[in-house]
Amino acid sequence: MSATDELRAGWTPASWRDRPAAQQPDWPDPVALEAVLDELERMPPLVFAGEARDLTESLGRVAAGEGFLLHAGDCAESFQAFSANAIRDKLRVILQMSVVLMYSTGVPVVKVGRIAGQFAKPRSSATEAREGMDLPSFRGDMVNDLAFTPEARRPDPSRILRAYHQSAATLNLLRAFTKGGFADLARVHAWNQEFVGTSREGRRYDALARDIDRALRFMAACGIILDDELQLHQVDFYTSHEALILGYEQALTRRDSLTGDWYDCSAHLLWIGDRTRQLDGAHVEFLSGVGNPLGVKVGPTTDADDLVALCDRLNPTRTPGRLTLVSRMGTSRVDDLLPPLLEAVRRAGHPVVWACDPMHGNTFTHASGYKTRHFDDVISELRGFFRSCEAADIWPGGVHVELTGEDVTECLGGAEEVLGEHLEERYETMCDPRLNARQSLDLAFQVAEMLRR
Ligand code: PEP
Ligand code: CO
Repeated sequence: MSATDELRAGWTPASWRDRPAAQQPDWPDPVALEAVLDELERMPPLVFAGEARDLTESLGRVAAGEGFLLHAGDCAESFQAFSANAIRDKLRVILQMSVVLMYSTGVPVVKVGRIAGQFAKPRSSATEAREGMDLPSFRGDMVNDLAFTPEARRPDPSRILRAYHQSAATLNLLRAFTKGGFADLARVHAWNQEFVGTSREGRRYDALARDIDRALRFMAACGIILDDELQLHQVDFYTSHEALILGYEQALTRRDSLTGDWYDCSAHLLWIGDRTRQLDGAHVEFLSGVGNPLGVKVGPTTDADDLVALCDRLNPTRTPGRLTLVSRMGTSRVDDLLPPLLEAVRRAGHPVVWACDPMHGNTFTHASGYKTRHFDDVISELRGFFRSCEAADIWPGGVHVELTGEDVTECLGGAEEVLGEHLEERYETMCDPRLNARQSLDLAFQVAEMLRR
């Protein structure tokens, strides 16, 4: 028995099954589900415990005010939109954002994607009524299909295996891109895609990339052998998703041979959504026992005492970097709701990373019927978050955003303004509206300015 086992007496990878589990699909064929989970248990882990520990360490530095977390990617990954180019473009925009943040602020950026496993969605309603039919809600490609037919919406466990295999392929490509030359700082110009390069933020990015080139030439002129500096040629990029479908997470949980501790090897970081953070619920029980760094979404209904109890439960050893709290209040409420939570967690002495998700509290349905968010609301919630942190003398540790590298029209606003009538042009998301690459870059420049102050 390892030290952490003793701390969490009674925990096993299956102990969540004795607790109420919110947001689980109603699998019509439990035997088929068990067969799939058995098969998954025999599959190789997607990530390694040592990598998860490295991320905890990096996030520990963020908690201490010595780094910044950039957590970004799809709301939901999709089977149908799976392609090497889409993965490359998403990575590219995240690399661009991190370069903007690092170069403008001098603060190291920890990069975590909502990628290689983000296939399951919590829903506000278990069913959807449309066209005179009442069908199960779409819960992500890991569970059922978006099409509104009884067959498509029937939860199908074989999708869990497909999600696993797509995650493995995605991660394989990400590892190649980040370690095999694509992420080399010498290619900083090449990350600017054409449709971005011609925009105002694209030109601003180009100017910054030229400065970086000049700095690299300067260092070379000083006699530094740039080829020998691994950090200039490779990037550490971590994966994450909401740990929602607990059978999947359990099946990929393995004991680390080095420490004897349990890790959920489906991703480096797992987070608990705003709808599944009940103290006595299955999600908290499951994640309390794995060694990965964890996130918790903190929405408007969060009670300060409950939040502290949650921190105690998920991080009893108060390890810096173990826990990231992601505030998602909505722009109109962040100034009222966040400060008491910042204060309570600080008073309790928990060394958390405070990050801001400025997306999920600002979703609304446009007159055209599309679910959207306005870029101005996103920026405005970020300002409220930075303001609250500054007033409390707490380090604003990161941002959590939904984005894509593609030229979509899902969120309104931005410098090249997306208007209501544009939404239908390229609205491609499986679930929530994402920032396009231009809006994402614009956000990075604005966050860099907030951070510098
Ligand atoms: C999400 O991040 O996609 C999500 C559903 O967020 P939340 O749990 O904060 O609503
Ligand atoms: Co979302």
